[in-house]
Amino acid sequence: MSFEIRPLPGVTGAEVIGFDIGRDGADQAARQRLRDAWTDRVVLAFRDMEIDEAGFMRLAGLFGENVPQPVQRPEYRVEGFPFIRLLSSRHRDSLGDNKPLNVGGTWHTDHSHLPDPPRGTVLRAIRLPGEGGDTSFTNQRAAYEALDEETRREVDPLVGLHIYNSRYAPRRMATMTPAEEREAPSARHPLVRPHPVSGRKALYFNPIRIERFDGMDAAASQALMDRLVAHCEQDRFVYRHRWRAGDVLIWDNAQALHMVRHDYDPARERVMHRTLVG
Ligand code: OGA
Ligand code: MN
Repeated sequence: MSFEIRPLPGVTGAEVIGFDIGRDGADQAARQRLRDAWTDRVVLAFRDMEIDEAGFMRLAGLFGENVPQPVQRPEYRVEGFPFIRLLSSRHRDSLGDNKPLNVGGTWHTDHSHLPDPPRGTVLRAIRLPGEGGDTSFTNQRAAYEALDEETRREVDPLVGLHIYNSRYAPRRMATMTPAEEREAPSARHPLVRPHPVSGRKALYFNPIRIERFDGMDAAASQALMDRLVAHCEQDRFVYRHRWRAGDVLIWDNAQALHMVRHDYDPARERVMHRTLVG
């Protein structure tokens, strides 16, 4: 095996250098090394990947089964690859007021309104805006483990109600078709969950999707989430990824919040390919 996994400073993130999907993709030991590093470091950043859409899907397949994207739009399609969604900074709310959408622009975890949210989101840089457009990740396991005893007792028993379009979301979601809205599931998830692989507890909440915690009113629920965000977004838990051409990232939605900063020149387009695995 000639690729390298380099943990980044702190508790979150590792770079994967020299990974060749053709050479290393079929190697079971390599796959296990990657999966262990993913569980431990929460985010893996593959550098200098020379892959096409098929290679991207193969890479994602090392981490889990394909999961369909819950919201489909013609402008999201990548011909021939039904599990890839195109993300462009030029996309607008095509079924709503056609204003630009701040996609991914505040702390969230992907698709927590599903009863079984996809563990992995895989994102490949297609076109970068130059300066800016970084994506940041928290480590919700380390953040949980750093809570004081009293806060742990407070959060351990709570259960959150997650819906697609929470009225408390700090940004707008893409408008859905009436059928999508009818079919959009909601889900209850414990605020503190053992990780499906490591069994270690992590905070699981989603500021764009949580309506409230069971037994608490909306104001108290939002106040608690604000407190938790302030804790989780401390530098000691966060990895901020500066994108380079050839980057592919995978993160673990079960133990991370993420957000992108759309802080670049709006005349520059930022384009990504994204797929989900569970
Ligand atoms: C996502 C997302 C962030 C980015 O695809 O789920 O939040 O950097 N993307 O584009
Ligand atoms: Mn996201």
